[in-house]
Formats: sequence, C-alpha cells, structure tokens
Amino acid sequence: MKPDPARAAAFDLVTAALARRAGLEAALEAPHLAALAPQDRSFARALAMTTLRRLGPIDAALGARLARPPPDRVRTILRLGAAQLFFLEVPDYAAVDASVALADSERTSRPFKGLVNAVLRSLARERPPPADPADLAPAWLYARWRAAYGEPAARAVAARIAEEPAADLTPRDPADVLALAEALEAEPLAGGSLRKAGRGRIEDWPGFAEGRWWVQDAAAAIPARLLVIAPGQAALDMCAAPGGKALQLAAAGARVVALDRSSARLKRLQESLARTGLEAEVVAAEAEAWADPRRFAAVLLDAPCSSTGTFRRNPDVLWTLRPGDIARLAAVQARLLDAAAERAAPGGRLVYCVCSLETEEGEGQARAFLRRRPDFKLEPIAAGEGGAPAASVAPEGWLRILPHHLEGGLDGFFVVRFRRDD
Ligand SMILES: C[S@@+](CC[C@H](N)C(=O)[O-])C[C@H]1O[C@@H](n2cnc3c(N)ncnc32)[C@H](O)[C@@H]1O
Repeated sequence: MKPDPARAAAFDLVTAALARRAGLEAALEAPHLAALAPQDRSFARALAMTTLRRLGPIDAALGARLARPPPDRVRTILRLGAAQLFFLEVPDYAAVDASVALADSERTSRPFKGLVNAVLRSLARERPPPADPADLAPAWLYARWRAAYGEPAARAVAARIAEEPAADLTPRDPADVLALAEALEAEPLAGGSLRKAGRGRIEDWPGFAEGRWWVQDAAAAIPARLLVIAPGQAALDMCAAPGGKALQLAAAGARVVALDRSSARLKRLQESLARTGLEAEVVAAEAEAWADPRRFAAVLLDAPCSSTGTFRRNPDVLWTLRPGDIARLAAVQARLLDAAAERAAPGGRLVYCVCSLETEEGEGQARAFLRRRPDFKLEPIAAGEGGAPAASVAPEGWLRILPHHLEGGLDGFFVVRFRRDD
C-alpha cells in the first residue's frame, strides 16, 4: 500500500511543526509541498492545520485508547487519522485505510499497522470529542491565561484556537481603503485594515502585484499607528523583519531605519519594499551592538517573544513552547527595551509590543521599564486609537489585546507607548 501524496505531505507538515519552533512556517514554504497538485496541496494544508488546531481534543481521545505512548511517527499518523475522522469530511473507511497505508510506508512504524487500524476503527465508532475550549490549549498555558485574565476570558481566548482566521490586509494608502474593499470583497476594519474571507493564492488577489497592500493581522497593524508619525520624521524599527510594521512607518511618511539580526528575514522586507515602492534603510545587525549615533523621534520595538498570541495562524506555537522559554525571552526583551530607549531622541516616542499572551513579556516588561527609566513616561492609549478595540485598553493605559476582542478574532498582543522627557 502506498500512502497518497496529500496525506504524506500532511504528515511532514505536522512533524515539522511539532519538531521545532517556526517549523510549520518553513515547512509550508518547502518546495516539495509546492510541487504537489493544487488539490493535494490544499488538502495537505487543511489536514495539517486541523490536526494542529485540534491537537488537545485529539490527544485526549487517543490517550484514552493507548496504554502507553507510541513512537512519535505513529502518534502523528494517529493524530492525522483522528483529525480526518472527527473534523474533516472524510469517510471513515478512507481515513482508516489511508492512515494504515501511511503506517505501512514508514519502516520504523510497520509493526504498528495493526495498532493504527484498531485505534482508528475504535475512534470511528465514537462521536467527536465535546468541544470544551479549555481542552484546546496545553493545560499549562490555559492555567496561565486563567490566572492572568480570569476564567471567562481564558475560555474565550482558547475557543479561538480551533478557528481558521480570515486574512487581514494593510493598505499602503489609507485613502485607498474603500476602493480596495470593493475590489477584494473585503471588510474595512476600525483603524484602516481590511479583512478578506476568501481563499486562494494571495499573489493573485487584486492590488497585490501593484503593492497596494500587504498581509498583516489587524492587531499587528495597531502598534505602528500609535507612533503617530509626522511626515519626514526619523523612525527606527529595531526588530523589523519580515516587515509589516516597517512598511506602515514608511507609508506614513517616516524616514525609516529597519534593523533586524536576521538577513534571511530582512530579504522578505526588501521584497515588500520593492513591491510597494516604499523606502527604508535596511540594516542587518544585533540591536544592542549596533554602532550608530543617530537618535529617533519614533522608535518601535516589536520584540522576539513566545508568540502565543499568534496561535490562530500558527497553532504549533502552543505545542512547541516550554515553560522555561518565557523567562528566557523576557530577559531578552528587557535588554532590547533598554537598547531601544537609548535610541529615542529627547521628547521622542517609544512603542514596545509583543504578540504574546504572557504577562511577563507584556505588563511585566512595561512596569519594570518604567521603574528602570524614570526619564520615560507612559503615554496612555485611548480606545479606538490606531484601531485599538475598547476592550483591550487596560486601566494603566496600555493595550492587552486578546484574540476575542474583535468579532472574527485577531491576534493577541501587548502594546505600550512611552515618551522620553525633553
Ligand atoms: C516579532 S519579530 C518582528 C516582526 C516585525 N516587526 C514585523 O512587523 O514584521 C522579532 C524579530 O526580532 C529579531 N531579533 C531578535 N533578536 C534581535 C536582536 N538582538 N537584534 C535585532 N533583531 C533581533 C528577529 O530576527 C525577528 O525578526
């Protein structure tokens, strides 16, 4: 029995996604996926994403049927099989047969053919597991969210894990929003983003080739707007790649320096600049070590983080993160925030943000920074400013954006704005 190419590709995607951080992103761009027939490619993608979005309930159902954990490759086959049985419109016999064929193709798992067959047949007789939002997240992360935001908010956040998000776009020119909304059949959002439900290759959507917009989550588009750029102002984006926020600053008329340590990721920024006709000085450097005397009226620090707020498009982040990663990242963020502060001109603005739901990376950083740097004051963000959902505005004046704060969802983010004393 030979496994079909779509399921074999889904196996590779899930394996890559769970093997290491950002593994899914790389695997989705891998050439062998692009080489599949379009129908196979879209099934492979849908199967892998459904498996990752429903990993919690799938593992609970499998765990109840397995006396001990099988080898990783067998577990992946079982997870893909369960996703087909429970959540995709695949006939039971096809889901079971295809999974057995996959097991048969893996030399290491061949002795497990019988197990795959028996477990999936038994699952096929069951109804899908009841949808309790709390089960969609790893238990340790859910417990953190409940402690930080309370049970109702934690449930509302976790419920979004199972949902497939729409695509959000940022228009290069705010005056183009309505024309683009019509051409793309997209919905304008507060703040100036567009939301498009459709599928297909984004490169084929109207306005892409002309650089009239770029893909950027509605929440990710808020921080750069909060710098309130005046034309000609000097702006530094200190962790700029792949570049959505740097493009926004350039589109607002800033003279942008876009710095990042990763040349590979900066290449994507260069491509976007070329496509949109926007300009920025692109610098590949470590932010703390960058030897440059300039000071900037606007500084943006979109720091590396756990990325738990991006689970809607990257459900793998929830399953590859380890508790120790959060403290390690928080230490990096504090160092970068100090380096960013040094770059702000007197009277200049500094916006710090992370696409994380973890308070050590957000509220904790803001509080500690204000204690370390009395020459910076918090500049409160008002509801609606830059598209900030009212529910996200914390009493302290910063934004704690949770994925249920906008109808249809948005990424989780923390955003705070400081101003340096004159
Ligand atoms: C959250 S991403 C930035 C996303 C980007 N602002 C955007 O809107 O597309 C964080 C970035 O920080 C970069 N980075 C991490 N540590 C850095 C450092 N010490 N110096 C410069 N860049 C760093 C990473 O390469 C990564 O591209």
